[in-house]
Formats: sequence, structure tokens, C-alpha cells
Amino acid sequence: MKFEKNILCIGAGYVGGPTMAMIAYKCPLYKVTVVDIDSTKIASWNSDSLPIYEPGLDEIVEGARGRNLFFSTEIEKEIKQADIIFVSVNTPTKTFGSGAGMAADLQYWEKTAREIGQYAESPKIIVEKSTLPVRTALAMERILTSNDTRVHFEVLSNPEFLAEGSAINDLENPDRVLIGSRQTEHGLRARDELVEIYANWVPRERIITSDTWSSELSKLVANAFLAQRISSINSISALCEKTDANISEVAKAIGMDSRIGNKFLNSSVGFGGSCFKKDILNLVYLSRNYGLHESADYWESVVRINEYQTKRFVLNMLTSMFNTLVGKKVCLFGFAFKANTGDTRESPAIYIAKRLIEEKAELVVTDPKALKNAKIDLSGNESNVSYIEDPYEAAKGCHAIAVVTEWDLYRSLDYERIYRSMMKPAFIFDGRNILDHERLFEIGFNVFPIGKSKLTHF
Ligand SMILES: NC(=O)c1ccc[n+]([C@@H]2O[C@H](COP(=O)([O-])OP(=O)(O)OC[C@H]3O[C@@H](n4cnc5c(N)ncnc54)[C@H](O)[C@@H]3O)[C@@H](O)[C@H]2O)c1
Repeated sequence: MKFEKNILCIGAGYVGGPTMAMIAYKCPLYKVTVVDIDSTKIASWNSDSLPIYEPGLDEIVEGARGRNLFFSTEIEKEIKQADIIFVSVNTPTKTFGSGAGMAADLQYWEKTAREIGQYAESPKIIVEKSTLPVRTALAMERILTSNDTRVHFEVLSNPEFLAEGSAINDLENPDRVLIGSRQTEHGLRARDELVEIYANWVPRERIITSDTWSSELSKLVANAFLAQRISSINSISALCEKTDANISEVAKAIGMDSRIGNKFLNSSVGFGGSCFKKDILNLVYLSRNYGLHESADYWESVVRINEYQTKRFVLNMLTSMFNTLVGKKVCLFGFAFKANTGDTRESPAIYIAKRLIEEKAELVVTDPKALKNAKIDLSGNESNVSYIEDPYEAAKGCHAIAVVTEWDLYRSLDYERIYRSMMKPAFIFDGRNILDHERLFEIGFNVFPIGKSKLTHF
């Protein structure tokens, strides 16, 4: 079969895999290939057991794989054949040298740019899918054209706004698709070509275009604003606990103001995930670089409040359980950074688990999808941690349960049965405020929600 377009994506991770699966699924006339340096990951994308869990992903991949969706490790060959190349490699926070702990580590991204420049023999549109510091497209252009200026590359910014756990729905019905380009003839033509791809299933009015720098910056700002809402409500949850106000009542009251809106107002143990912290710190680093220290301090405080909230949660466990956790069995309900994903990157569960181990507690971790990653995150602590998928078995004989991930499953468990199987007094720390606290208290638990009065029997 002759395809209309050859689309390539470099990076088969949480973004590259689902995004390309959706394009292939919606556009049978395009050939979509996803490549990665990690051959195990590619083998997994080609198997029945995909490397990531995402509701609805299996069906989309099955529908397109082998038809017009391909996963491969042949990077050189695929670069040569592609018309459009999405770059979706990881851009983690730098852990070394200048900007360590703040700036984006661009080594994977730069390596990809060099490879494209080295192997490409015909003009290509390069699409930045990864989240990058503003003005990265300029550096990309320079690297791409450093070997051979005869091949024309047009670099577009097309940041991805999907949220893990709802990625398929987000990709199928996005609030908006953003495409940034140079405002030149070549730039606008490349932009229109990318618009046409999305227009196969996204309504035109939701496909918005801008200059490249605004597009790159918009992604960092979107994540900063989302995280800022979480830190804002979490900072108030601490005040609620001191004053007997109820964070859910406060969130409801302010959320009904249409200027504020009711989304992202759930207080919790804090946000996790590979993006929020990294992207805010990137924004902070950029602001400082331009001498904008007040802006940098403002955004940095969002990360600090998040850390404070997770620390507060563990301290609350310690003080509530009579100031010692030594030898006590604590069960973590959930380890993923959010529900409906197996991803544990930057999950608050990692910090909570490590702190509890420091306090010499014995941990039992349960999670429907994230135990494999949890074992990697907590490796070296085998003697203090056990992993049990069944929450009833996991809670058996424990002194306390801490709800860390808001899996629906935990809302509907038989808590009378769980209570009977636990040590007494039995504690529940609901780090996501998803349980029926009054009911748990009636059963006999000592209940510690976030941002609400505790319910104790002593
Ligand atoms: N995860 C999210 O929810 C999300 C959402 C929006 C945007 N983003 C952004 O998208 C980008 C990718 O994120 P992710 O979560 O998919 O990361 P990931 O770590 O899951 O995937 C990145 C993949 O790129 C591969 N890779 C690295 N260097 C390569 C190279 N030179 N050639 C080929 N493959 C290479 C890695 O092996 C890895 O499989 C990041 O910039 C991230 O900030 C992520």
C-alpha cells in the first residue's frame, strides 16, 4: 500500500506511544512509525503487553498496529524515509553541572537532533513534542543545519497536553491542539501540513496556531498553572486542619465562582508525575536566567508548597501514631502518582515510603498497576517492604493505611472486613480525601483526612 505521508516519532514513551497510536488510528492513509533506542520497550510495544498502562490504549494500538502503525529500532532508516518527524524524547531535570536540579537536561533531545541532521537526505518537518525551554527550536535549527545546509528543515512546536490516566480521551477530544511556527512562508506551509493531520479528527476551531516561542512557553505555563492550583488548595488545607474548617466545603464554595472554576481543587498529599515539578523548575530557571528573580521565586514556591504538603502528611502520621512508627506495619494504598496509570515518576508515594522506612516502619505496598515500578523505586529496601496486589491481604495485620493514590477501587472496599483484620487502634490517613470518613469512624477507625478535622476515638 502507498501511504499519503510517512510520519516518524522518535521516543516511544508515555507521550510518543499513545500520541502516534492515535494519529495512526485516526488516519489510516498515513504510515506512522515510532522508534526508540530502547529495544526492550519497542519489543513490548510490538507485543500483547504494552510498556505502559493507559485506559483504552490497548484497543487503539491493536486497531492500527501492523496496518499503518509500526514500532521499530531502525532509527537511521526511518529518518531517511520520513516526511514529518515528531521528537518525543525525555527532557528530565538536569542532575549535574550548571543548572543541576532546575534546568532541563537536553542531552537526549540534542542527540536526536544530531541524528536527524546526520541521516536526513530530503526536506523534513520536525515537530517538537517534548516539553522544552522556550527558544529551543532555534537551537534545533542550528544543529540540524550544521552538517548540510542543502536539506531544508522546518521546526514546529506542538506541545502535548495529554494527562496520563486519561491520555486516550485527551488525545481523541483535546481541549486544544497548539502549533507554533515561524511566520515565514516555509514556516506557515509546514504549520498547515501539521494542522491537516490533526484536522482528521480534531475540530478546526480547537487547532490553534501561534509563533514558535509562545507555543513552547505555553506548555511550561500550562503545567505551572495546573500545579499552582494544587499548591494553592493544599496550602489552605493546612490552615483548615488548624481551624476546623473543611477544605471540601471551601473548595466547593470557591469553585462555584465561574472566574475560579471547580477543577483541580482537590487537596491531597501533593502532586507527582514526571512533568509538573520538572516544568516549573524549568520555568524558574529560565526566569532567573533572564534576571526575573521575583517571577522565579513566585513559581518556585509552588514546588516548595508541594514538598511541604507531602512532608506534613508523613509528620501527621508519625505524631498521630503516638510519635513512633518503629516496627509498626503501614499499608500504602496506591503507589502510582495518580489513578489509572502505572507511572510512579515523582510520585509522592516514593517520598512517603522512604520517610516511613527511615522511621523504621514496616511497609506493605498495594497498587493495581504500579507494583513493578514501585519495586524499582524502592529497591534496596527489600527487608522493610512487601508488595501485595490484593488490598485486603495487604492491609491484614497493619496498624495504619495511608491512601496515596486515588484509585476508584479504594472507594468501594469492604472497610469493616479490613478493620477486623488490622491491629488496633487502627488508623486511616486519607491522602486523597476519597473515602467516606464518617463511615470509617463509625466502623472504628481513627481517621485523618487532608484539610478536615480528624475523627478519633481517643
Ligand atoms: N508523560 C506525560 O504525561 C507528558 C505529557 C506532556 C508532555 N510530556 C513531555 O513529553 C516528553 C516525553 O515524555 P515521556 O513521558 O513520553 O518520556 P519517556 O521517558 O516515557 O519516553 C521518552 C523515550 O525517548 C527515548 N529516547 C531517548 N533518547 C532517544 C534517542 N536519542 N533516540 C530514540 N529514542 C530516544 C527513551 O528511550 C524513552 O523511551 C518530555 O519532554 C515530557 O516533558 C510528557
